[in-house]
Amino acid sequence: MTDPGQRLRSSLTAEQSASAVEFDSPIAMEALRATQVLHAADQEPFPVPGRIRVITIANQKGGVGKTTSSVNLGVALALYGLRTLVIDLDPQGNTSTALGVPHSVGTPSVYDALVGDSSLAEVVHPTTATPLLSCVPATIDLAGAEIELVSVVAREYRLRRAIETHLQELPPEQRPHYVLIDCPPSLGLLTLNALVAGDEVLIPIQCEYYALEGLGQLLNNIDLVRRHLNPGIAVRTILLTMYDGRTKLADQVAEEVRNHFGSLVLDAVIPRNVRVSEAPGYGQSVVTYDPGSRGSTSYVEAARELAHRGVALPPLPSRPTPGSPVAAPVGSATDVVAFPDTDAATVPVPPSSEENKA
Ligand SMILES: Nc1ncnc2c1ncn2[C@@H]1O[C@H](COP(=O)(O)OP(=O)(O)OP(=O)(O)O)[C@@H](O)[C@H]1O
Ligand SMILES: [Mg+2]
Repeated sequence: MTDPGQRLRSSLTAEQSASAVEFDSPIAMEALRATQVLHAADQEPFPVPGRIRVITIANQKGGVGKTTSSVNLGVALALYGLRTLVIDLDPQGNTSTALGVPHSVGTPSVYDALVGDSSLAEVVHPTTATPLLSCVPATIDLAGAEIELVSVVAREYRLRRAIETHLQELPPEQRPHYVLIDCPPSLGLLTLNALVAGDEVLIPIQCEYYALEGLGQLLNNIDLVRRHLNPGIAVRTILLTMYDGRTKLADQVAEEVRNHFGSLVLDAVIPRNVRVSEAPGYGQSVVTYDPGSRGSTSYVEAARELAHRGVALPPLPSRPTPGSPVAAPVGSATDVVAFPDTDAATVPVPPSSEENKA
């Protein structure tokens, strides 16, 4: 079987060389424009990041596009030459489904690395999307992990340790450039593990009413993690998803988000596009399912922006270990943003294992 990246490139080249006469309807023209964007991007491989980027994709609100973004950003980064590992940390296992990775009960999965003694190397699976993309799947076992982890030593650091050990054990030429962690829609121990494991957070925000509600809670939690568990974590990227250009509301939400978060928001906006929602049904990302669709080209654009922003990253503070308490960092979780949220309530972050021992 040929490399899917190669297939994508060839199909785009073929479409580009077709005459404009064949593209005489608005929809066909849109498809042509979309494929041209994708093809143009392909002429310029994505740049290698300054350091390995471990990106936690989080938003406790359900259905905002966390999984879709993890999958499609992951596929786009890999198709454009960057080794990428996607970790499915949601018991629903949707990321695993979309990447064509088995995740029935008994499949070696992230649960075995979090709660058991497996290394990540033992639970990483190749994907059908592209050879440079691998995935740690989630099985339904993970649903019990929130409770099982409560009594585990250094429970907040389980994923971080697994990732660090994995990266250290891999030969440099096999180390991923990107590790993307897809979080469940909650602020429990699984998301906490992802925030402690990551160096940065990407928050997908759906361009819908209520989109901003609860964001303050998430940012507060990231701040708590930053102060107590992982001084390196910062919100570096906001991605606007499911944008419906026909509604004023989508524009208003997008504008409000840009006003609050400024340059953290990617220029690329993901439109609401039926091909995006169809793709998982075929065990695929939209980038491989329908490369010329607007959903696909937008994700490729978003991935390209993400990659370009990753070339020059600030150095990371020294990594904490469960045995060494971390000094409170200066600044807030978002570095540049003071988000005026009305949510008074903050979900308490479970105390760290050090605090438990004290
Ligand atoms: N751009 C889009 N256009 C159309 N449908 C989309 C788009 N992005 C996501 N969807 C659909 O919206 C639904 C929710 O998306 P997704 O599963 O990515 O959200 P999520 O934040 O991961 O959800 P959860 O919180 O349950 O994990 C899915 O059915 C997905 O196919
Ligand atoms: Mg999801």
